[in-house]
Amino acid sequence: MNILKKRSWDLPEREATPEHIFMNRRQILAGLAGGGALLASGLAPRPAFAEEDPSAGLYPVKRNAAYELDRDLTAEEIASKYNNFYEFGTHKQTWPAAQKLKIRPWTVTLDGMIDNPQTLDIDDLLAKMPLEERLYRHRCVEAWSMAVPWSGFPLAELVKLAGPQSGAKYIRFETFFDPAVANGQNQSWYPWPYVEGLTLEEATNELAFMATGIYGKPLPKQFGAPVRLVTPWKYGFKCIKSVVKISFTDERPVSFWEEIQPQEYGFWANVNPSVPHRRWPQSSESVLGTDERRNTLLYNGYEEQVAGIYKDMTGELLFF
Ligand code: MTE
Repeated sequence: MNILKKRSWDLPEREATPEHIFMNRRQILAGLAGGGALLASGLAPRPAFAEEDPSAGLYPVKRNAAYELDRDLTAEEIASKYNNFYEFGTHKQTWPAAQKLKIRPWTVTLDGMIDNPQTLDIDDLLAKMPLEERLYRHRCVEAWSMAVPWSGFPLAELVKLAGPQSGAKYIRFETFFDPAVANGQNQSWYPWPYVEGLTLEEATNELAFMATGIYGKPLPKQFGAPVRLVTPWKYGFKCIKSVVKISFTDERPVSFWEEIQPQEYGFWANVNPSVPHRRWPQSSESVLGTDERRNTLLYNGYEEQVAGIYKDMTGELLFF
């Protein structure tokens, strides 16, 4: 992703540890083997992100077998340490800094053009929602991908709870804003807080999911605890993390990245291998944790579920 105005102390991605070194399989295996030895000795430190979460007892949840994968799941150890979370840094190793995020108490406000505006405590929300596990592909516009087991609930259930009024066409999602905790939010050239948007039709598509857990556990903070959006047919930047507000509106929301670089990051951002991004060709993707490059699939392989949403849209830039 791109930074508009850069200060001297910013670490550009090209200067961060290159992915092929960071992700070197042998190093990972060696690391795991070392961890195994520590565990056997009973001295293993708990990883920082395994902190007890009050919702831990809810997981694992039953897997919804309708969502199958065409590839292996990405190892938890890898997916958990390769995250985009600009509130905690512009590099991928945001997981240590993200541990500062306090996820209790946490509320999610539903407002705007709805019949039932309310502010929900996250644990009350979790108790209300039908939790399930889904295996989804996850494709970043930076041309890497993973496959992960999310736990959570269909966004359509939250929409039902809100009760949209007839004029509501879009949903605007907003992340927390707390620069004392999230150092990245002191970078005033970014339009904080992070915002994303969907049409109501997209939000009620069966695939749109609010993730509250992953790998059979509550969501670790670097993944956007305690609740984040997952839209697997779109590029990963649409999947807004650590959501505090969900507003129903008749105006198309301008997302965080769209506000920064509208020519590069649009509203729709549907995955399409034939439409290259200015920075990254999109025809193939590197599969995290492997040496594999796979051909990218239209709508990230979810064409059957979502192509109908867009079939009559002409003049819209659907694929960036
Ligand atoms: N949400 C917030 N609040 N802040 C972010 O920086 N990054 C986005 C998205 N959601 C981001 C965010 C981007 S660019 C991607 S690719 C995905 O989160 C990464 O999700 P992951 O870390 O679970 O792979």
